[in-house]
Amino acid sequence: MLIKTKKPWDLSENEVTPEALYLNRRKIIQGFGVAAAAAVISPFLGWQKAIAAPDFTVIKKTNYAGDEELNSYKDITTYNNYYEFGTSKSDPARNAHTLITEPWSVKVSGEAEKTGSIALEDLIDFNALEERIYRHRCVETWSMVMPWVGVPLAAVLKKFNPTSNAKFVRFETIADPKQMPGLRSRVLDWPYTEGLRIDEAMHPLSFMVVGLYGKPIPNQNGAPIRLVVPWKYGFKSIKSIVSIRFQETQPVGSWEENNSREYGFYSNVNPDVDHPRWSQKRERRIGEFFKRKTLMFNGYGEEVASLYTGMDLQKNF
Ligand code: MTE
Repeated sequence: MLIKTKKPWDLSENEVTPEALYLNRRKIIQGFGVAAAAAVISPFLGWQKAIAAPDFTVIKKTNYAGDEELNSYKDITTYNNYYEFGTSKSDPARNAHTLITEPWSVKVSGEAEKTGSIALEDLIDFNALEERIYRHRCVETWSMVMPWVGVPLAAVLKKFNPTSNAKFVRFETIADPKQMPGLRSRVLDWPYTEGLRIDEAMHPLSFMVVGLYGKPIPNQNGAPIRLVVPWKYGFKSIKSIVSIRFQETQPVGSWEENNSREYGFYSNVNPDVDHPRWSQKRERRIGEFFKRKTLMFNGYGEEVASLYTGMDLQKNF
């Protein structure tokens, strides 16, 4: 990890010992017989085998939310924004079962030496999964604390050797009206897209997520693979990704395209820049009664503020 200054909450970081890893694998092997055993210990652990296992093997756990309480699995999986499955918070949990997540591949294109379609199990190193507890702040002013499982986005992107022309990365969600009833509504121009500057994408906090609470991520949270950028408003964290494009020009995400006065490209969590229709100074943590103060960069300023040195964050909101 590239973050050098240790915060008090980094003390809870613990690496699972090789022995524990071994024992955990043995436990999985015992549960699934000889054929599955061969698959589990293979370095080419496949996605389908991974989800056949009861839990992911996580090699490192880091708490990036201090002593703030985790939201429950139920909170995180029943109060969602995933407009492809409806616009109310309860719609995705009810409707997203129609999303087919296996097999899954991602098309990688643009300014990189290697491009093409890549299967999920080749994109993500399932032997290097980490758990990270992150704060998640939605632009609508609610927030949660989530235990995500995934790999650094940089580890994924570096596989493709982006060229020096790759100044930005653009992501796209699957858009299939047969699987996604919300596409009938014109609330956004589908497919859902988002983008990051390349240095934001390569920042060690940017996380490519495949799991939640130690299990494969549920459809309503963006199965089988979604982005999590914890210092930005939640809409930047695009779900169910099918395309990654390295490009020279700044991409326009779905929300910015919808209303650029309200949703900027950067969308860093910033209590001093109000949304034109509401204040961003406070937030409602799901499960709490009193509102709490919103933190600059969602509390990750020490790690990410230097990405924006010299920029006017009122203009570049
Ligand atoms: N990705 C897609 N494809 N479609 C969406 O509607 N909603 C965004 C983001 N990613 C959205 C999306 C918004 S507004 C938020 S706050 C987060 O997902 C919500 O993530 P969660 O449901 O896992 O909490």
